[in-house]
Amino acid sequence: MVRRTHRCGELREEHVGREVVLNGWVDVLRDQGRGLVFLDLRDRTGITQVVFESGIDGEAMTLARSLRREDVAAVRGVVRRRAGGANPRLATGSIEIEAREVEVLNRAEQPPILPDDAEAAKMDEEVRLRNRHIDLRRPRMQQILGLRSKVTRIAREYFHERGFLEVETPLLIRSTPEGARDFVVPSRLHPGEFYALPQSPQLFKQILMVAGCDRYLQICRCLRDEDPRADRQAEFSQIDLEMSFTDREEVIETMGGFARRLWKETLGVEVPEIPRMTWTEAMNRYGIDRPDVRFGLDLVDVSDLVRESPFAVFADAVRTLHRGRPGCVKAIRVPGGAAALSRKATDALGEMAKSFGLGGLPLAKVTAAGFETGVAKHLEGIAAPLRERLGLAAGDLVLFGVGRWEVVCKALAEIRLRLGRDLGLIDDSVWRFLWVVDFPMFEYDEEASRWVALHHPFTAPMPGQEPLLETDPGACLSAGYDLVLNGSEIAGGSIRIHRREIQEKVFSLIGLTAEEADAKFGFLLRALRHGAPPHGGIAFGLDRVVMHLAGTDNIRDVIAFPKTQSGADLLCDAPSAIDEAQLKELRLSVRADPTR
Ligand code: AMO
Repeated sequence: MVRRTHRCGELREEHVGREVVLNGWVDVLRDQGRGLVFLDLRDRTGITQVVFESGIDGEAMTLARSLRREDVAAVRGVVRRRAGGANPRLATGSIEIEAREVEVLNRAEQPPILPDDAEAAKMDEEVRLRNRHIDLRRPRMQQILGLRSKVTRIAREYFHERGFLEVETPLLIRSTPEGARDFVVPSRLHPGEFYALPQSPQLFKQILMVAGCDRYLQICRCLRDEDPRADRQAEFSQIDLEMSFTDREEVIETMGGFARRLWKETLGVEVPEIPRMTWTEAMNRYGIDRPDVRFGLDLVDVSDLVRESPFAVFADAVRTLHRGRPGCVKAIRVPGGAAALSRKATDALGEMAKSFGLGGLPLAKVTAAGFETGVAKHLEGIAAPLRERLGLAAGDLVLFGVGRWEVVCKALAEIRLRLGRDLGLIDDSVWRFLWVVDFPMFEYDEEASRWVALHHPFTAPMPGQEPLLETDPGACLSAGYDLVLNGSEIAGGSIRIHRREIQEKVFSLIGLTAEEADAKFGFLLRALRHGAPPHGGIAFGLDRVVMHLAGTDNIRDVIAFPKTQSGADLLCDAPSAIDEAQLKELRLSVRADPTR
């Protein structure tokens, strides 16, 4: 048979009367008897109905009848208006093919799963992943693959229009941890030595700026040996960008423009200018640096109101210092919460608070006369200012987080999100983008007794703040920025340090000796000596962006060949043992697991 003339989703009324050839998979075969067979032929673009009628030669009819689900077939025939009336659910629903000839290109064994979206929802995900070659045939998966491809195409267009150069950086590199654990690869030519797989191309893109590339783009794979989560994979992709001779404003403007273009061209959504929020405001109001601002339930600090309270739980907490920083009491007002939240629900929130390190979750119901239940009696002395600050009304519930600032923030952030979801306060139809800026450069790691970089240690201080690195590193703000969408971090980046002395200072603050810094990052420090331009950039989490655009909360839905929760690739059955000869060549031996 001649080569296909059209795809299965392409034919419309305007093609009526044309002879066409389609190739694809057997989606449905309905043998009506009395010389009438309907075949739905499917490919990535859609489905076309093919009709075999008694006029066709007997051999072709027999062959058509022999077709089974997922067989691969070619059909030649003439496009006609649907005899049985249009099917509005199919893009090709106004036409059908009157078959003249059929050829079986390949028979399929009885498939273990069917590429059916409704069935997939009920199926064990592991079975789908093991049979990904069939699962990916589902219309939904084909749509997501198409969307993902569109996102990378728009990225290339947008950034090429702005003079970005696409450059590939190596996969086998030196171990330069960026916060997560490295995956390592043993070297055969250098026995006993290892490459690391990149957690991101961070240092290479900076070196490309030193090398005069001016503007860089790469759609790249990043590998971090961390536990997968709903929005996290050990192997994920970034749209990675870097710009020279730039500043925070220009990067934010360029990257915000990209996000807006993406939403416009994929969903037809006009995203307005993206607002900014400082890290301090995000932490104070939402307890988290990636706030979901689609709903209220803001955290309100009431530490000053309870400082003199006779209720020791509150008063002691705000008087206790943790590394010089006082503890706090923060409250959340839940409008109508007195009735909306059952005792069981508030008990569950209390357990949640404990799991995040709080002593519990003191609460009270608001009545017309005052407060009742929980810690009501301890609030009497501060009833009026509390009402005013929180805007309390009868029927509300008020919850308190008490303790170390970091712990209160973290716990209340989770509780706020849970309440937002449980009370149906989150509008899933809106897109709330937010730039979070003015992060602190460092946070103090009590256990290790040293500063750790909040972004990564190549992030520059805000212009003018460099002296604080010497005098008060904890107060120094960084030129980092995160792009947050509906409570998820979809991109993160910063203006980088381009002066060697400052980079050395930051390394020493995070506890690296000069020798260690040189051993780990000598190639960067060397590059910074030879004329590094001011530069900065960002990386978008490609998988997360596609998750939002596709409307899924499962990262595995947007990756063609993802890993399971335990990091396994079920399709090719990785990881796996390697044979003795390979181990020997690498001069490796595997020790028995001492825990078994
Ligand atoms: P960062 O580590 O913030 O920055 O990563 C950038 C973006 O990548 C996404 N992301 C992930 N997506 C899926 N699975 C993961 N495990 C995962 N980890 C991160 C997030 C995140 O915002 N080199 C810097 C970027 C820079 O400074 O330019 C970096 O990698 O959406």
